Amino acid sequence: MASTLIVNARLVNEGREFDGDLRFVDGRIDQVGGGLSAREGETVVDAAGRRLLPGMIDDQVHFREPGMEYKADLASESAAAVAGGLTSFMDMPNTKPPTLDAAALEDKYRRAAGRARANYAFYMGTSNDNLDAIRAIDPRATPGLKVFMGASTGNMLVDDPVILDAVFREAPTPIITHCEDTPMIDAAFAEYQARYGEDIPVACHPDIRSREACIKSTRLALELARRHDSRLHVLHISTADELALFERGPLVRADGSRKRITAETCVHFTRFAREDYARLGNLIKCNPAIKDAHDREAIIQALADDVLDVLATDHAPHTLEEKAKPYAAAPSGLPLVQFALNAALELVHEGRLSTAQVVQKFAHAPAQLFDVADRGFLREGYAADLVLVDDTPYTVRREDVLSKCGWSPFEGTTFRSRIAATWVNGALAWDGTALVGAPMGQRLQFDR
Ligand code: DOR
Repeated sequence: MASTLIVNARLVNEGREFDGDLRFVDGRIDQVGGGLSAREGETVVDAAGRRLLPGMIDDQVHFREPGMEYKADLASESAAAVAGGLTSFMDMPNTKPPTLDAAALEDKYRRAAGRARANYAFYMGTSNDNLDAIRAIDPRATPGLKVFMGASTGNMLVDDPVILDAVFREAPTPIITHCEDTPMIDAAFAEYQARYGEDIPVACHPDIRSREACIKSTRLALELARRHDSRLHVLHISTADELALFERGPLVRADGSRKRITAETCVHFTRFAREDYARLGNLIKCNPAIKDAHDREAIIQALADDVLDVLATDHAPHTLEEKAKPYAAAPSGLPLVQFALNAALELVHEGRLSTAQVVQKFAHAPAQLFDVADRGFLREGYAADLVLVDDTPYTVRREDVLSKCGWSPFEGTTFRSRIAATWVNGALAWDGTALVGAPMGQRLQFDR
């Protein structure tokens, strides 16, 4: 039996922070408590008062496999994820080919087996003509059904109102949406092109992919979900204006019921704003666009106020060569998994969130929302997916980036916390400076 005891930890779990110890045996948490003493032959780790958290579960990544392995793949990006304290990921369907049926979905699970360092799951995608495949999907085979209600990388736009209505009526899993109104964006783009020709400044991105386009599309998603009582999770909220559309309160209410409509934001919307385009240009071009400082502030507050339920990354790597193109040709998206938890913990250092709130949004909530079995909490019997956080400064350098694209929007940034260790299914995956051992990621199971 492989047994590890972590002593002298500051455990953060389910709204509480407390001093204690944690033992895991054969990949599962065995005991959470105080004053645990080492057994013979057991590995003992002295946390020396550092914070021990459940591993983060990222409900939105684009790891690019199959079809765009020159940007990223399941092995490279899951390595970056565990270095960042992210122990599970849910990957998007806008690959090549797109994930539009059960065969494409299972192909992804086969690719991840033995190569992913973090636990993995894959979303089913939606198109204007795959309703039969959606109806046939096994709800335990995928976290949910992704609907691009706005066109983005991969052009998987679903804009047929009859199909959208049917999808919201019939989806056998939670529906997760990218909400931006494409006709409004296309019209704005044409205006900016008429004004600037091929030299549209990237700082116009939040005006082209406008807040109005987000609001309109999010309203439509909510209307459809209310009409059909669907389980809807709206991804990457980027504006202050959309916040008023969502229910304020905990994901799991006092009476045990769960919100049916939930919302996510992403780390970059809490760290960047319009003024950063001058410094970072296309590197922070993403969809939806990073907007204004007041949006960033309102989004952070909405995490604290339980208006936004989930924090994720939307990790979307592109090469530097692609990002060096002019605005219109440069693809949208940024690599984030490796430094997402460090960035989220800055909100704690700034006094905006507690560590328990970061854990709630980035570990507990995605587990609950997607019915993930036995993960996302420090609970006896649960998988030993753990992250140890050290409060010593860490400056991001390009040479330390593990994502295949080889760059980070945080290069040169000094974070006040670093990831000292990550365990996946009880195996050390990251020791604070290097990857350790063979890939130990497992397929996520959904209790539904
Ligand atoms: O910025 C983005 N990049 N937003 C998306 O919706 C897709 C993603 C990608 O796949 O590149």
